[in-house]
Amino acid sequence: MGIFFNRNESQASASRAQVVSFLNQKGGVGKTTMTFNSAHALAKQGHKVLCIDLDPQANLSLLFDIDRTQSEKFHIHHLMVNSVRELKPLHVPALIEDVLETQNGVDLLPAGQELSGFELTVAGVSIPRQLILKRFLEKSGLLDRYDYIVIDAPPTLGLLVVNILCASQGVIVPFRPDEFSRKGLSHFHDALNDIAEMGITESPRVLAHIPNLVDTRRKQEEDDLLRIENELKEISPQSKMMSPFMNRVGLVKGQAQKKSVFDYNSKEYTELQEQFGDIAHLIDQWGKERRNEHFAN
Ligand SMILES: Nc1ncnc2c1ncn2[C@@H]1O[C@H](COP(=O)(O)OP(=O)(O)OP(=O)(O)O)[C@@H](O)[C@H]1O
Ligand SMILES: [Mg+2]
Repeated sequence: MGIFFNRNESQASASRAQVVSFLNQKGGVGKTTMTFNSAHALAKQGHKVLCIDLDPQANLSLLFDIDRTQSEKFHIHHLMVNSVRELKPLHVPALIEDVLETQNGVDLLPAGQELSGFELTVAGVSIPRQLILKRFLEKSGLLDRYDYIVIDAPPTLGLLVVNILCASQGVIVPFRPDEFSRKGLSHFHDALNDIAEMGITESPRVLAHIPNLVDTRRKQEEDDLLRIENELKEISPQSKMMSPFMNRVGLVKGQAQKKSVFDYNSKEYTELQEQFGDIAHLIDQWGKERRNEHFAN
């Protein structure tokens, strides 16, 4: 990746918000769907949650019924640029409060078109470009205001995603069980190892892999999933393999109505609510461990 890391850069204090991102450089694997519903599951379990949409496609923002792609209104890109002193000529009069949105007890910093130019915008700065998001979160006070910050990532391994990796303490990887995914996942773990080797004090932990859009009626898919599960056990033995999400029309319906699975009472949603509840429990169990470790030291 060829990006220089400052060895003295320390990870955000574990007593504050834990940052979890949903990542996979492959498109359409369920990152946005899982970010949205897991954030609502965490909120349902009583946690204060902030979502950050860092995908220029702004799909997560659309699920919150927010569209900044065509509007003049400020979004996360403006806040990140504002946080870099060297980019002063590009600064805009935007405060976090001007950008923040709330829906059903979950806060959001929405995305916008300018995010697609992030790499170019920060190309000339002398501070470590891969730490802009992390430093923004630390300076902004947001880490003191939430229990969990959940980030939706774009389907790339570019600078924006490197920023997300550096700002996160935990990573969750949804994937589709097919041959292309198998190669993509091993590439993703290589990229994570590259980042670890570049000398960040603490690289994020892969909390879980989640098979998504699974159709076990297809024998080939079942075989591919088994193969991927076995490989991931080797590559990332500490991460949990969550039980698969089937292809569920309820999720698509929820998205069309801009609702999480917790907004429905019908039986159709019970299993999905349990599955997202499990993801939230996994995140919180890890979050509690991190906080306990912090206070024990
Ligand atoms: N388990 C599921 N059952 C049915 N549809 C699903 C499921 N998971 C995701 N989808 C649908 O698949 C599509 C892709 O999902 P999503 O947008 O969450 O993927 P993504 O990884 O965020 O994509 P991108 O990389 O483009 O950001 C969406 O239309 C979503 O509604
Ligand atoms: Mg997405």
